[in-house]
Amino acid sequence: MSRQFADAAEVQQCLDEVDYLVDEGLATALYFALALGQPLLLEGEPGVGKTTAAKALARALGTPLIRLQCYEGLTVSEALYEWNYQRQLLAIRLAESHHEKLTDADLFTEEFLQERPILRAIRYDGPEAPVLLIDEIDRADDEFEALLFEFLGEASITVPELGTFTAARRPIVVLTSNRSRELHDALRRRCLYHWIDFPAPERAAEILRRTVPTAGEPLIGSTTEFIGRVRQLDLDKAPGMAETIDWVAGLSRLGATELVRADILRSLVCIAKTPDDRETMTEALDSLGYGQPASA
Ligand SMILES: Nc1ncnc2c1ncn2[C@@H]1O[C@H](COP(=O)(O)OP(=O)(O)OP(=O)(O)O)[C@@H](O)[C@H]1O
Ligand SMILES: [Mg+2]
Repeated sequence: MSRQFADAAEVQQCLDEVDYLVDEGLATALYFALALGQPLLLEGEPGVGKTTAAKALARALGTPLIRLQCYEGLTVSEALYEWNYQRQLLAIRLAESHHEKLTDADLFTEEFLQERPILRAIRYDGPEAPVLLIDEIDRADDEFEALLFEFLGEASITVPELGTFTAARRPIVVLTSNRSRELHDALRRRCLYHWIDFPAPERAAEILRRTVPTAGEPLIGSTTEFIGRVRQLDLDKAPGMAETIDWVAGLSRLGATELVRADILRSLVCIAKTPDDRETMTEALDSLGYGQPASA
C-alpha cells in the first residue's frame, strides 16, 4: 500500500507543494484512487493537466513515475513484456557449440524476459508503490484495452510461458484519454473516473503565478479572464492551460505588464492553433473589450 492520506484536502495540500493545483473534485478522485488502490481514468480536453496529474502525484509521493505512452499499433511487447530473441538466439548457438540442445523450458525463463512498463510496475520493489501512467489510452487500438483488463482488475499479468505475476503492492495507476474514441465499458468498469475541467480563473491565475514568475498581477488577471471568455467562442481547439502558460510567458517576454490589443495580435501564435481560430479570435477582440482604438 502506498502512503495513506487522511482526506482529499491532504492530497490537495501535497500536490500544491509540488505546484500542481487541483480542485476538490480531482483531489477527491486521487484520494479514492490511493485509498482504494484502484486505477483512475482521467479525461478532459487537451492541456488541462491530465498527464501532469500523474507526474505530480509521483513527485508528491516521492515515488518513481513509470510511463507508457499509447499509440496506434501498441502491442504486448512494448507495453507488458518482451522475450529477448537475440539473447535466446545466442544461447541456442552457444549450446549448439557445446553439442547441447535447448528446449522451450530453457529459453522462456526469467533470464530472457524483458520488462516493459506494465510488468515493471508490477514487479517494482522499492519502498513505495510506483505511479504508472498509461497516457492517451484512446490512441491505442481498442483491442489493446482488452490486454489491460487483467492488470487493471487484479494488478497482475500472465506470461503464458512463465505464469502469472501479481503485484505485491498495487501500483498507483493513472490512465488518461482525450476521448478521441469511446473506451470499452469493461475498461471504465475497472477504473475510477474523473473529468478534468479547465481550471476556474482563480486557479488558472495561481498556476500562472507559479509557472511564470515574471508575470505581474495585472497581466495574470487580464489574461485569465480573456482566456476564460475566448474558451466560450466556437473554436477548433480551445486554449488549454499549456497554451495559457505559453501565452503569458510570451507576453511577459514582450515586456507586457497588462493586456493590450497590439500584444494580443502579436502573440496569437500561442493560443490560436488553426487559421479559423486565429480569425475567430481576431474578430472577437472588439466584443472582448480589446477593440481598435478610435483613430485620431
Ligand atoms: N492544475 C494544474 N496545476 C499546475 N499546472 C497545471 C495544471 N493543469 C495544467 N497545468 C500545466 O498545464 C500544462 C499542460 O498540462 P498537461 O500536459 O498535463 O495536459 P494534458 O491534459 O495531459 O494535455 P494533452 O491531452 O494535450 O496531453 C502543463 O505544463 C502543466 O504544468
Ligand atoms: Mg497529456
